[in-house]
Amino acid sequence: MLIDEAFQPSDIEHLVDVENATASRQIFCDPGIWRMELQRIFTRTWLFVGHASEIPAAGDYVTRLMGNDPVILVRDAGGQIRVLHNSCTHRGSLVCRGTSGNARGFTCPYHGWVFDNSGAIRATAMDDALYKKHTDYHHFDLKRARVGTYGDLIFATWNDDAISLDDYLGNARWYLDIMFHRTPEGMEVLGAPHRWVSTNNWKLGPMNFGADGPHAVKVHGPITDATFAGGNARQMLRDALIESPSVSMGNGHNGIWTQAPEAFPPFLGWEPALIELFQKTLTPEQLQLMQRAVASVSTIFPNFSWVQGPASFEPATKMPTTFLAIRNWQPIAHDRTEIWNWFLVEKEASETFKEEAKRMGIRTFSAGGTFDQDDAEAWHSIQRGVEGEIGRTLDVSFEMALAYRDRALVDFPGPGTAYPSNYAEVTEFDVLVEWQRYMTGKIDWAR
Ligand code: FES
Ligand code: FE
Repeated sequence: MLIDEAFQPSDIEHLVDVENATASRQIFCDPGIWRMELQRIFTRTWLFVGHASEIPAAGDYVTRLMGNDPVILVRDAGGQIRVLHNSCTHRGSLVCRGTSGNARGFTCPYHGWVFDNSGAIRATAMDDALYKKHTDYHHFDLKRARVGTYGDLIFATWNDDAISLDDYLGNARWYLDIMFHRTPEGMEVLGAPHRWVSTNNWKLGPMNFGADGPHAVKVHGPITDATFAGGNARQMLRDALIESPSVSMGNGHNGIWTQAPEAFPPFLGWEPALIELFQKTLTPEQLQLMQRAVASVSTIFPNFSWVQGPASFEPATKMPTTFLAIRNWQPIAHDRTEIWNWFLVEKEASETFKEEAKRMGIRTFSAGGTFDQDDAEAWHSIQRGVEGEIGRTLDVSFEMALAYRDRALVDFPGPGTAYPSNYAEVTEFDVLVEWQRYMTGKIDWAR
């Protein structure tokens, strides 16, 4: 039975109560809903697949996931970026087993069909003339996803009817520019993604990064004390979170910008040469938001997120360095998420800064990162708490949103709708509101 036959939009609609800011716990623990998400979200919307600096030269490739479909992100011989279904058109085998490399093409290990790095069929195992039915062998090309780029950020979709990537990102572009296009040369990756599996539903990550302000002091309090000098870091963090903006960028893209207390210098955690470049590249409004941000955490719907912040593990003697982590939350089962996490840095940064930014990123947000260790335990515990026979009949609450929904900031420098607190829960809940729109077919082009 097709899953779409098992669940109808009317079955899904009530699972997110938009008016009362609650959601059924069933959305985190039902294999049928997970399968339906793969169909209704992951085959229909734009998905982040990589950064241009991962494939700088013709033939460079990395392997990625779009939902549960393996793909190859490759720069073909002509320099065009392609996203190819990593499944042979003969009998379906993976044609690329590596995670990265440089190749003129891909030879299927099962019967030897050969595809060039644009996905075009080059040879079959037998005399081509035996394929009587086809005179045009491009019938056998690897399936290609539609590719869209915003600067060096590469997205892909299987949906020919999807709106343009520019329209899909919408207001988020203004914030993406602050994160990824803030110097003339842009960013580069610091190595390959770290990958690990967390024992929870995939949506907990995008929600947390979309973003959950209130967990930070409770869950990350001890590590906050260890990474910021001054003795009362936890209290300072709490005050900053309560008073800093959260932003609904539209189309399910959401995040928070935690602003440093007045006593902190602006642009904490960057070297002076980079700060000069930011000031040349960004608008005054973008600089206004960025220069005091000690945390920027956001989700681009459905499963791309970033987290940026200054960190030092010797806070008494060493100034912090700002790291920037990006990640995909891959929905590998209803209760399992494969997290792909990698780091970016300004191309113009000094080698010392790049090395330290990577070190701070790995120590905070990575498989062994202190913050990820904290979050993984919390998300594991949510999964265990919601998936019982009683647990799944209850709701999760975002009811703080009710107090903040009509308190949008009027003087916020960026586009979208901003709320006056990282504790507002409006933006975190917005991730599920968008989820409901896809799952119930309310988005016309995603039908
Ligand atoms: Fe690829 Fe047969 S499955 S050549
Ligand atoms: Fe966290």
